[in-house]
Amino acid sequence: MNSTRLTMLGAALACAMMSAGCDDTHVVKTPVFQTGLAAFTNQASPFEKAFPRQYASYRQNDESTVMTEYNGSRNYQKHNDFNDKGWKHAQPYLKNLWLGYAFAYEYNAARGHTHAVEDILEIDRINRFNPQGKGNQPASCWNCKTPNMVQWVQKDGDKFWSRDFNELRENFNVTEESISCSTCHDTTNMEMKLYSIPLQDYLKRTGQDFDKMSRNEKRALMCGQCHVEYYFAKAPGTVPNKVTFPWDNGFDVEQVYEYYKDKGADNGPFVDFVHAVSGVKVLKAQHPEYETWKTGPHGTAGVTCADCHMPYQREDGKKFSSHWWTSPLKDAELRACRKCHADKTPEYLRGRVLDTQKKTFAQLLKAQEASVRAHEAVRLANEFTGEKNMDYDKLMAEAREMTRKGQFFWDMVSAENGIGFHNPTRGLETLMRSMEYSQKAVELCLAATNGAIIEGVAGDIYKLVPPIREFSREMQMDPEALKSHKWLSYMKPVPKTEKVWDLNKRIK
Ligand code: HEC
Ligand code: HEC
Ligand code: HEC
Ligand code: HEC
Repeated sequence: MNSTRLTMLGAALACAMMSAGCDDTHVVKTPVFQTGLAAFTNQASPFEKAFPRQYASYRQNDESTVMTEYNGSRNYQKHNDFNDKGWKHAQPYLKNLWLGYAFAYEYNAARGHTHAVEDILEIDRINRFNPQGKGNQPASCWNCKTPNMVQWVQKDGDKFWSRDFNELRENFNVTEESISCSTCHDTTNMEMKLYSIPLQDYLKRTGQDFDKMSRNEKRALMCGQCHVEYYFAKAPGTVPNKVTFPWDNGFDVEQVYEYYKDKGADNGPFVDFVHAVSGVKVLKAQHPEYETWKTGPHGTAGVTCADCHMPYQREDGKKFSSHWWTSPLKDAELRACRKCHADKTPEYLRGRVLDTQKKTFAQLLKAQEASVRAHEAVRLANEFTGEKNMDYDKLMAEAREMTRKGQFFWDMVSAENGIGFHNPTRGLETLMRSMEYSQKAVELCLAATNGAIIEGVAGDIYKLVPPIREFSREMQMDPEALKSHKWLSYMKPVPKTEKVWDLNKRIK
């Protein structure tokens, strides 16, 4: 037997054993156990005794130091490449693009699942300074952090979603009830089970039955509970603030964008926030890993998230799924990949990933700069007092629409955590289109002002509009600090108040 056939046989064997990327996947079943634990056992440690290997790997999610070239497990500030709170591949304009929205205060890279609750409690997007103790965000934000969600919704019904986030702050154990076993399993027998209400709603709306799905589809949907684009419902006839998946037209970026056109409170376009400087009504995208993967080379071949992020491991002759959800590149041997790509070296595979990421990241930065230029053009055209084009209003309406669309397309790649790898073609195509829309916005503003704003929009964007490096709730309490950047001066100062919350303890 020559070496090619050997590796092919190896790959086929690996495939059969791993039961992924092959046609016979649905035949293999998830093992069923009798755990003796109650349904909805939301803490993690009660599972240690029965499942020591899964539990030990789950605890590895605590690790929060190891980095890869573009990713890794430090929760660094994603706009920052200038000090040790950041990382070399940062996106300098994030605070500019989200000005007027809580994301501009703080936005960090993802780390392990066991930190999810701690990280949401400490993020500056939730107000910890409100004298009444309110978070000024809906309870919907809890949806992807703790399995306690399920009981909270059972208790409050549809009212849950519009409760204030901070009303639930004290209701649980921070380290034990972050994303945990009952997020994905029926805790009585460890079968895969959906806990996510928005995903169940979507399946119901589209006539799909989770119980009848193949094992492989179920494995991917475990992650599709949270690693998706979503929004908080506003349209008439919906449950206010309920987390909803925008997939009714399909998973492509254009289809998702179309979906949003009548989901606003007035049945007009859905709006996450109004940009503080340009007044453009922006849509904020969130981590669409599931959608991106599903339409990419591995997703269409039936290779699921778990194949790469939960590879099988062996210990004392026992085979189990790793529950350390992290970058596969942290393993020098890239064992997860080589279960299937047995004929390739780790160096080759790593090279393929990095090549995609490098090219995607370069275009991501350009699309981001084009978006900033579009907002600046709209700002200048809004404030323009000279002789306007007779179609000024029409041209400006179109310019705002193009700015919104350009930013959403950029964000659907920016917020996606694979930096292109989950779907290289989609990543680059989406960024290309983002740049087209943003550029069109600038052209429309030029037309609306008969070219008068040209000096403000032509040339080096880093000089025209420098990145906003620092911004936080506390900075907004200081009128002097808001004078430090032309765009920050558009933010209204807020009254000075003291910090009310420390983790989940009320200190004031
Ligand atoms: C984010 C989702 C998720 C969470 C959280 C999770 N699991 Fe799993 N678990 C899975 C998936 C996916 C599989 C693979 C199922 C399959 O392939 O049929 C799995 C498989 C298992 C299995 C079957 C044997 C094996 O290793 O494949 C056990 C036992 C298990 N998990 C225990 C746990 C325990 C204990 C916890 C909490 C400490 C936990 N899981 C948390 C998704 C999760
Ligand atoms: C309940 C919601 C939820 C589910 C289900 C879920 N995740 Fe996550 N995931 C998160 C959140 C939230 C974070 C970021 C946590 C933080 O930064 O504190 C995260 C972070 C991650 C990370 C980054 C870890 C690192 O080291 O940087 C990976 C990888 C990941 N998830 C993969 C998966 C996979 C694979 C699945 C399915 C088996 C899955 N997740 C299911 C919510 C979820
Ligand atoms: C073919 C393998 C493969 C599949 C399938 C896959 N991923 Fe990934 N994923 C990767 C690689 C490679 C990276 C890049 C890691 C890096 O840059 O360090 C990554 C990155 C990530 C990250 C960011 C990790 C970090 O360090 O912050 C998350 C989150 C993630 N994937 C979630 C998912 C989810 C959810 C799915 C399924 C919907 C999925 N992945 C499917 C290989 C895969
Ligand atoms: C369960 C099997 C399986 C696993 C695990 C797996 N792959 Fe793949 N990979 C495939 C299949 C199947 C294809 C598609 C082949 C085709 O259609 O030509 C593919 C295609 C690819 C391609 C070419 C398409 C592209 O994206 O450019 C690359 C590169 C690749 N894989 C890298 C990786 C890396 C890196 C990992 C680990 C992070 C990995 N694969 C994990 C099965 C797998």
